[in-house]
This record gives sequence, structure tokens and C-alpha cells, in this order.
Amino acid sequence: MSKAGSGLRHLLDFQEWSTARLLALLDNTDTMLAVLDRPVKKVPALQGLTIGTAFFENSTRTRTSFELAARRMSADVLSFAAGSSSVSKGESLRDTIETLSAYKVDAFIVRHHASGAAHQVARYSGKPVINAGDGRRAHPTQALLDAYTIRQEFGELAGKTVAIIGDVRHSRVARSNAELLPKLGAKVILCGPAPLLPRDLAGEGVSLTTDARQAVQHADAVMALRLQQERMDTGYLGSIADYVKLYQLNEALLAHAPDHAIVLHPGPINRNVELSDDVADGPRSRILKQVENGQAVRMSVLYHLLVGRG
Ligand code: CP
Repeated sequence: MSKAGSGLRHLLDFQEWSTARLLALLDNTDTMLAVLDRPVKKVPALQGLTIGTAFFENSTRTRTSFELAARRMSADVLSFAAGSSSVSKGESLRDTIETLSAYKVDAFIVRHHASGAAHQVARYSGKPVINAGDGRRAHPTQALLDAYTIRQEFGELAGKTVAIIGDVRHSRVARSNAELLPKLGAKVILCGPAPLLPRDLAGEGVSLTTDARQAVQHADAVMALRLQQERMDTGYLGSIADYVKLYQLNEALLAHAPDHAIVLHPGPINRNVELSDDVADGPRSRILKQVENGQAVRMSVLYHLLVGRG
């Protein structure tokens, strides 16, 4: 009997994920990190399954960590990158996914520039789908690794405050964190220039401010976001120099945060734009810890969806 398909089928966003299931997934990440500390970093959990990574948009961290995560759990990996594929000849998303599905792929990990593409892949393939980032809509495994990194630092998420500063408008990371962290009892403060700060993101556990000093004042974690020029129409931003002056996460801004506050960034960083070199490489930075945790979180997600409820 195939192991695929047990439990909740997809991770597209957090709408259907209860707090208890999210906490179980984070707890299971501890086990996966322990596996990665062993001399032989491999378990048989996904033996016999084939995981397809279908990336229609570039990635360093998400793609490599998912592929490693699948291999660490003994799955076969079908690695598809649109840039070197027949997508450049006009092949549609549907035909691409149906073609890959014909190789007996058991689950897909999908990144696409269009919001909602991961949902479409779930329909076209009929297989479990993990959203590895769709347009500006959602990047759930990034938010999970962010949450895990904060919990690892402070022991719990309940009662913690996370300030997210930058290009909130175009950020799927900000949206997924704003969806996830309040479910886990944390407060989110979204901050950026008014044109990059959609008012409709405010809600239960999520507040907005254009004042970066105010945003970091009570923050336990401060996350800087990249200006996503590739998704930005003209008119959203004045000059980069003005942006840097008001919103760059640097030592001067961090001086307004509590001493214990840690610094996060989902990557890739545009150094000395949204984040200064000294803060990126400084003692409060947990950026490489986020990367390290990403592999274990993604192992936990694969386990949760394809083997059991974690
Ligand atoms: N944070 C993130 O999604 O990075 P990549 O684009 O390198 O995958």
C-alpha cells in the first residue's frame, strides 16, 4: 500500500491547519534535527516514494532544502526547473504537471510566480502538494521555519512579538507569517512605507505601522524583508536611499529593540539595502540558523503529509 495520501493532503497555506497540528509539526522538527546530527543522516520514512520538486521560479534555499529533506528520508526526487524545460517553448502548467505525474510522482513541491498555482497543481496532479511559494500569496514552509527558529530561541511562541519590516505588499513570507504566528499565540507587527503596507493585512494578532522604531520597540524577533523589485510596479517606492534611511534594519534601528531581540531574514538578502552587513553577520542574527532549521522543518512537513500526523 502506498504511504502517500494519509492525513491532511496538502500544505498550500494554513487555512485548514489547527494549532494542535502545527505544534505537532514543530515538535516533530526536533526529531528531524536530531536525525541531521547523526553520523548517518538518513531514515527510511519515505522509502519507495517519489517527490517531485516543480520550480517555475528561482530558488536557492527552498529547493535545495526540500530535495535534501526528501533524500534524507530515503525518497527518490524528480527535480524539475522551468528555466531549463519545455515551459520555455510554451508548454502550459497543466501539461507540465500531467507529464511529470506520468512518472508516478507521489507528491509535488511547487514554486510559481502566480498566486494560486499550487492549488492548480493539486487539482492537475491529484497528489499531495506543498506550496514552496506562489506569487505574493503564501510561503508556508518559510513561515514554519521562522516560527521554529523563534521557538528554539525562546522556548515558546505564545506571547512573543515579531516585527516584520520591508516590502510587505509583495511578500508571501509576510502573509504566511501573519497567518501562522497568531495561530501559535504570537503577535505580528508589519512595518514598511505606506504604499508597501496593505491595510487589509491587519487583523487578529496582526497590526501595521509605518514607524520602524515603534515596530521594533517590544519585538522579540525582527525580520527584514527584501524589496521585491521583480514583483513591484513603478510608483510604490521613492528612492532606495530614502527607504534605507527609514527602514533598513541596522545597528541604529536595532538599538530601539529589546536587548534579547533576534534578527531574521528569509533570504535572499540585498545587503545594505533592507539589512546592514553588520547586523546580518552580527551576534543577534539567526539567519543561518533559519537555513539550517529549514531542512528539518521540511522533513517534518513531508513526514506529516506523507507518513502520518507527526
Ligand atoms: N526564502 C526563500 O524562499 O529563499 P529561496 O528563494 O532561495 O528559496
